[in-house]
Amino acid sequence: MDSGIKVAVVGLGFGASWVATYLDHPAVAEVAICDPDADLRARVAERHGIEAAFESYDDLLRTGRYDAAHLLTPIPLHVEQTLAALDAGVHCACAIPMAMSIADLERVVAAQDTSSAVYMLMETAVYSNSALYVRDLAESGALGELQFLRCAHYQNMEGWPDYWKDLPPMYYSTHALGPVLAVAGRPAASVQCLGSGRLPDDLLGDYDSPSPVQTALVRLEDSPVVCEVTRCLFQMTRGFQERFDVYGDRMAFEWPQIDGEDPVVFRVESGPLPPGRRSRPTSVERATLPDFADRVPEELRGHIRGGTAGNFRPHMVHEFVSAVLDRRFPAIDARVAANWTAVGICAHESTMNDGASVPIPTFGA
Ligand SMILES: NC(=O)c1ccc[n+]([C@@H]2O[C@H](COP(=O)([O-])OP(=O)(O)OC[C@H]3O[C@@H](n4cnc5c(N)ncnc54)[C@H](O)[C@@H]3O)[C@@H](O)[C@H]2O)c1
Repeated sequence: MDSGIKVAVVGLGFGASWVATYLDHPAVAEVAICDPDADLRARVAERHGIEAAFESYDDLLRTGRYDAAHLLTPIPLHVEQTLAALDAGVHCACAIPMAMSIADLERVVAAQDTSSAVYMLMETAVYSNSALYVRDLAESGALGELQFLRCAHYQNMEGWPDYWKDLPPMYYSTHALGPVLAVAGRPAASVQCLGSGRLPDDLLGDYDSPSPVQTALVRLEDSPVVCEVTRCLFQMTRGFQERFDVYGDRMAFEWPQIDGEDPVVFRVESGPLPPGRRSRPTSVERATLPDFADRVPEELRGHIRGGTAGNFRPHMVHEFVSAVLDRRFPAIDARVAANWTAVGICAHESTMNDGASVPIPTFGA
């Protein structure tokens, strides 16, 4: 791979927005695209000057030419396409969700274990400026001891492809959960979840899931900390947000109510409580987030964006490409991804059992 790796971007809806970042990565020698939609394929190929444009994913893998594939295809295709890549020794980055059942999560983890290639879940929220900022606060000790986590993903999926109809909201919850589980640095252990609201008849589909909203409490492994997570897909009046709040005993971070505003940080004085005082003074201020441009190669700095939610593409492309080159597991490898994704699947099981606690499987050693 001296002259760089060859990457295929598969699925050109959301996927089209990743092509330029791969093309600019200094360790990427070649980018191919793949989509059965001929017009879309032609448009993306022309826009980026790409010669290798495949109609069929199987044909693309059969060339044996590509070191890595980034899958941004419809949700029901993720598992089989991931397994096909890993079985062919092709490194695989995949858009969320990793899978829709525990059995399929186990299949992908097993495939990563036996493949010469690596898997990365492209959980974009984990690479927002806010998530990078709070991870730094946690690692530096500035938050103090972690006490509570809260996160949510509000989105209205009316008009989106049919596979979204009555999808259990928690099946697509890693945009909320990923950043806080990454900050906590430990896996989820169990979950209790309830459904809320009523899905109208025309949105009922294949999943037999009656609620447009689900809200859950997640226990973390070997930790007293609990995470509260809410996910809605339809019917709830709320503008789009993927958000999280993190509370330590020294400092806390809260996502702004409206995207585009700066987040809020709270701090308390350390040391013994002065005599006669009831509670500690708490300061509150808006934080200006860094853009973390120094963490990606110079060639990708033109893709860096400021703000609370943005910025994930250059960091994620760099992490995936670096993992391939360094022959190491990426930060969100199959085992980490399976734990995060399983929370949503187990949460739905809990919902259908009136909020019973459901343990998260461990996915092997
Ligand atoms: N922030 C995020 O992480 C984020 C944001 C948007 C979408 N997504 C995920 O990315 C994926 C793509 O989202 P989308 O809204 O573009 O989906 P989509 O359903 O609109 O389809 C994307 C493209 O995949 C193509 N496609 C269909 N079958 C294919 C196949 N067999 N091989 C190759 N391409 C195929 C379609 O023609 C389409 O152009 C989804 O899994 C979605 O969940 C993630």
